[in-house]
Amino acid sequence: MSLKGLVRSAVLAAGVVVPVLATAADETSLRLADGTGVDRVQSFCSMCHSLDYILMNSPFQDNAGWEKTVNKMVKVMGAPLTAEDVTAVVGYLGSHYGKESPATTNP
Ligand code: HEC
Repeated sequence: MSLKGLVRSAVLAAGVVVPVLATAADETSLRLADGTGVDRVQSFCSMCHSLDYILMNSPFQDNAGWEKTVNKMVKVMGAPLTAEDVTAVVGYLGSHYGKESPATTNP
């Protein structure tokens, strides 16, 4: 096989492999810690992006930080949470994924 042919098959192989890996790492394999409000977080916060975003931000956010983030998701991004949902979600994230109890891996 020519060098050009080798490069082309390497590129093709990479193109096939990458989406498979992305699927294997999707949020369906991510389980959040049990607690009041987890069901709302699980359904609302995975609508637009992976729940990984919660884990990635856990080391930096306290209650007030989560409140800001969740309000941004509602007001700026258009997440369909009621005021009651926001309170439940912020309470859950503050106590399970706050910076005093950072959780960056699956429980
Ligand atoms: C309507 C769509 C939508 C929903 C629902 C949503 N988000 Fe987001 N979220 C976004 C977008 C868009 C971004 C920005 C993505 C980027 O910058 O790559 C984002 C970013 C984030 C970030 C990264 C930090 C930041 O401030 O940008 C965190 C943390 C986050 N979301 C948490 C949540 C949580 C918690 C929920 C559940 C209450 C939620 N999101 C629900 C759209 C949404």
